[in-house]
Amino acid sequence: MILAINGSPKPQGNLHRMVEKIVRDTGENYELVHLAKLKINPCFGCVKCADTQRCIQKDDMAPLYDKILAADALIVGGVVYFGHPNAFTYTFLERLFPLRHREPLTMGKPAAAVCVGGDEAEPSVRQIAYQLESYFNFKVVGSVFFNSATPPCFICGYGTTCRYGGPARWMTPEEFEKFTEITPEMFQNFEDHQDVMRACEILSEELKAAINQ
Ligand SMILES: Cc1cc2nc3c(=O)[nH]c(=O)nc-3n(C[C@H](O)[C@H](O)[C@H](O)COP(=O)(O)O)c2cc1C
Repeated sequence: MILAINGSPKPQGNLHRMVEKIVRDTGENYELVHLAKLKINPCFGCVKCADTQRCIQKDDMAPLYDKILAADALIVGGVVYFGHPNAFTYTFLERLFPLRHREPLTMGKPAAAVCVGGDEAEPSVRQIAYQLESYFNFKVVGSVFFNSATPPCFICGYGTTCRYGGPARWMTPEEFEKFTEITPEMFQNFEDHQDVMRACEILSEELKAAINQ
């Protein structure tokens, strides 16, 4: 069983669909967890988890520890908010702390990282992979990212006029002057990018191979 974590709060967004495609293509059983539907607090830093390898907080992270340990592999997907993996994703990673004391329980477990951003997905996917591998000793078999070039300014209602949003920052003043309409084809889907689709397929194969090794 693969435990798949979707850290995007947007139902059926690019990240949700990417993570689901990757796990589905492995042909393995999987469970997809949507972090935005759960209530997970940040780590309180009390370090009481050192003895029990479980967190003292009785929130929605509690049942996930056993699921992570029972899974043959973990895949963690996050979106980029303000240059970093978003808070749902980062909080989940932080709360893996109980599993790393003395003899990390996730040592060598196959894992993968996925990230979607407007234009900064690559550093964040590296950060997710680094945290899994370096702090929690997962064996990260690969990662995939997608830059959607679709800023939140496309849905806020002020995208064509706001002088502080993404479009005004990316465009020259002349381009922004002519930017008067946000049309459906400006919303990019990873399925239309062959290189990203192929990278997802390779990651599925890598995960499957790691599980069946
Ligand atoms: C509050 C907020 C902040 C964002 N900040 C960044 C950012 O700093 N860099 C970036 O590349 N994308 C940023 N984005 C864009 C998202 O990463 C982008 O919309 C992504 O496609 C969302 O994927 P999803 O549809 O799967 O949720 C931001 C979006 C929101 C809503």
